[in-house]
Amino acid sequence: MAISKIFFSIFSILSISVFFIFSSLTVAEDSHFFHKTVSPKLLGLQKEKLSHLHFYFHDILSGPKPTAVNVAQAQMTKNSPTGFGLVYMTDDPLTSGPELDSKIVGKAQGIYASASQDEVGLLMVMNFAFTEGKYNGSTVSVLGRNTVFSTVREISIVGGSGLFRFARGYAKAKTHIFDPNTGDAVVEYNIYVFHY
Ligand SMILES: *[C@@H]1O[C@H](CO)[C@@H](O)[C@H](O)[C@H]1NC(C)=O
Repeated sequence: MAISKIFFSIFSILSISVFFIFSSLTVAEDSHFFHKTVSPKLLGLQKEKLSHLHFYFHDILSGPKPTAVNVAQAQMTKNSPTGFGLVYMTDDPLTSGPELDSKIVGKAQGIYASASQDEVGLLMVMNFAFTEGKYNGSTVSVLGRNTVFSTVREISIVGGSGLFRFARGYAKAKTHIFDPNTGDAVVEYNIYVFHY
């Protein structure tokens, strides 16, 4: 009787240990991997599509509630004809029409900075964060060059989130209104992106 109890205890201890060893191995295999190839189906990816987005970007520097603010500049920026070194942070409204009181479809959140000494050429690093309809919460990420005095500028779209996961494409930016006294601008954007 005593012997069978001892055997039973040993058996229990062994099976519990084996259980823990195996479960820890399984956990290690499931969550502690560095790389593996997966099927696009695993992420629910179907066929890639091309979307065209159209909206107006309002860069408001003047008035009581500017949407773009100067956050940095260099000593020599004020002597540079192109404002080289100037850095602005934006939370610019994106609207469906050219008027500021037309429907807001998102915000352009990020930075533009004067990165050229020979012409006015901005480095744009920002996210277009959409709030309209099914695109609410989705973003596209912009990383490109914007020579603001050219009629049409082409700016890269390098990624996205939400409905724009895996996005890549380009934006065409065209100044709709520019007020040289205040610096306020309304820019028309046409974006073409591949995404799923
Ligand atoms: C977008 O989503 C946020 C968070 O879910 C919500 O609070 C907001 O009302 C939505 N906006 C629109 C325009 O649907």
